[in-house]
Formats: sequence, C-alpha cells, structure tokens
Amino acid sequence: MKLFDVYPLFNIEIVQGKGCHVYDKEGNEYLDLYGGHAVISVGHSHPTYVKAISEQVAKLGFYSNSVINSLQQTLADKLGVACGYDEYALFLINSGAEANENALKLASFHNGKRRVLAFKHSFHGRTSAAVRVTDNPKIIAPVNEGLDVTYLPLNDPYAVEAELKKGDVSSVIIEGIQGIGGIQLPTDEFMRSLRELCTKYEAVLILDEIQSGYGRSGKFFAHQYAGIRPDLITMAKGIANGFPMGAVLISPMFKPVYGMLGTTFGGNHLACAAAIAVLNIMNEENLVVNAGKVGAYLMEQLRQLPGIKEVRGRGLMIGVEFEESIKEIRSRLLFDEKVFTGVAGTNTIRLLPPLCLTLDEAAEFIRRFRHVLGLKA
Ligand SMILES: Cc1ncc(COP(=O)(O)O)c(C=O)c1O
Repeated sequence: MKLFDVYPLFNIEIVQGKGCHVYDKEGNEYLDLYGGHAVISVGHSHPTYVKAISEQVAKLGFYSNSVINSLQQTLADKLGVACGYDEYALFLINSGAEANENALKLASFHNGKRRVLAFKHSFHGRTSAAVRVTDNPKIIAPVNEGLDVTYLPLNDPYAVEAELKKGDVSSVIIEGIQGIGGIQLPTDEFMRSLRELCTKYEAVLILDEIQSGYGRSGKFFAHQYAGIRPDLITMAKGIANGFPMGAVLISPMFKPVYGMLGTTFGGNHLACAAAIAVLNIMNEENLVVNAGKVGAYLMEQLRQLPGIKEVRGRGLMIGVEFEESIKEIRSRLLFDEKVFTGVAGTNTIRLLPPLCLTLDEAAEFIRRFRHVLGLKA
C-alpha cells in the first residue's frame, strides 16, 4: 500500500532525539530549531517524560470517558496553577483542530448565534469549522463552506466593531501570535479592544494558543502580554511534547450539559501522563522563563545580522523575514549546517525550538546561520 502523498518530504529520516538535538539514521546530529513544528516543549526524550509514559502504559494505556480518570483532574489542577486560569474548566481532546472545533461549537451553543469573525492569514486547523475559519481557500472543501465566516484585517478594531454591531456574531477567533501567517503579532491594544468589544456585543472571544501557548512566548499564553482574559482558550502542540493531545480552557460563564461535547480518545490515561510530566518538567526547569530569556537573546542577535528585512516574535516563536525566498537558506541550514528550521510563506524562516533551548545552543545556531549568510563567524 502506498502512503497518500500530501507532504513534500526532505530526504531525511529522524530516528532519535535528545534535548534540542535530533539524529538521522546515518547518525548525523541536527540542532532542532523547529521542535517538530512547535510540538517539542520540554525537549526530546526527557527522562522524566519517558519514565512517566513508560510506567503509565505498563499499568493502563486507555480506558473510556465513562469512568473516573483521576489523571485528568491532576492535569487540570496543575494546568490551572501553571497558566493562572484555575477557575476555568478543562475539556481534553486530541489535536489543535479539535480544540478549535469544540471551542467554536461551545460558543455557538452558548449564545445561539452563527457567524464567526476570523483574521486574514489565520490558521486554525483542518477539521470542518476549524478549516472554515482558516484564511486559505485552497484547504477549504465545499463541504466545509456552510459556516458563515468573515475575515478581517489584524489590528483593526473598527473593522471588528462594524461586524459585531450587526448582532449575529457568535465568536471571534484569533491566534495569540499568528504562526503559519508569518509570526504576525496582534498588538496588545488590539487584544484589549477585542476583549471589550466581545463583551459589549455578547460574542465569545476564542484565543487560539495552539502554537503560541504553553510557554512558547515567554508567558504561559501570548495573550497574557495584553492582560486580557478570553472566554475560551485552545491548546495543543507542546501540551504533551508530541503525544497527541488538545485542550480547551472554558470560562465559568459556560454551563456544561451531559453529552454536549464528547470524545473517545480525548484525555486518555497515556496522554494525561505525558501532559502531567510536561508540566512537572516545565515547572522544575523554569522553561517559560527560559523561553523568554533565550528568545530575547536570539532576536537581539538576529536583528544585528545584515540582509534581513524583519525579525518578529516573542520568546521562542520567532519569524525572520527576508526580501527574497528563503528556500535556499533553509535548505543550506538543514543539509550543510544540520539545523532544522520552519517556514512561513516563501520569505520567512520560523524558529520554534524546544523551550529548553540553552543560550549556548542559541549561540551555536547564530554561528551556523551567519555561515549560511556568508558572514564572518
Ligand atoms: C495556530 C494553530 N491552530 C490550530 C492548529 C491545528 O492543530 P493540529 O494540527 O494539531 O490540528 C495549528 C497547527 O499548526 C496552529 O498552528
């Protein structure tokens, strides 16, 4: 049987990982500034993480959501403390798209309205509603077109108010920092306006922190720089360091009803063990602070390099935009310098390393990057 060929692949097979490094089957070592697409939070094969998953699977990997799973409550307690939302409720699923799908549904169940406001260049996933609020017509199939969505420019509160005034908007969904859109930051003032406007017009504010959350920005959630509290917050990626898991944080204004949401796999024992280990490691190793510190160092160093159009980001979510295509630079970083990086559009390199990246590893990346750009070490 062939694999359904939807991914353009690099001719590299990664078979092992440790900390911020991965290894291919020929034994080459790569510096991981990509984190497998912002997924690796506490580093590859962290011993605490490996132990937690191994011990859990030896006891019980899965049982259904029809019986008590106290690991879910342990996770909720630790997460509430870590992110500062302990009065919110937690709903667990398996991916980022599912998190947004459930958030959009919850909003609409809550206020009975239908239309959603999303932003230009947004990405929210590939399931039915999540893909429909994604600003990329190429990945929206005709069956997804039912949901009524209006895309607005980022950082324009007047455009948002003009739509909210019409009274039919159920929710506004926005990324803490746009990832696939090229590391575009909503301003703190815009976030505060969104909060006020959503309250005024009784629309639900959904913060997609799937890429920008879980410590990546140097705060637990990127929207915390603006000091706002959204109604729903979606998470995935770093939450379980690669074990598939997604989550929605739900404000107390939403009242749960039996059967309103549900999932077979969501919140299973193994996923919870992985996510609890992640929070323990983040806490012990102070990884949110580390992301802020190492990210600031990287951005300061990158801003000194000639030939770069703009460096944007917060913490370890960094976009390095060039005037021209970065295809060649990224390929040379990977094949000549053995550094994994991400991309956004054609001209922006995206850095999404594990949150445990050290200053030495960051300096090593800068050294290799300078080499690719033809600058002196
Ligand atoms: C901001 C954002 N939202 C949602 C998603 C979808 O997450 P998943 O691929 O886990 O469904 C992604 C994935 O890249 C994302 O970056």
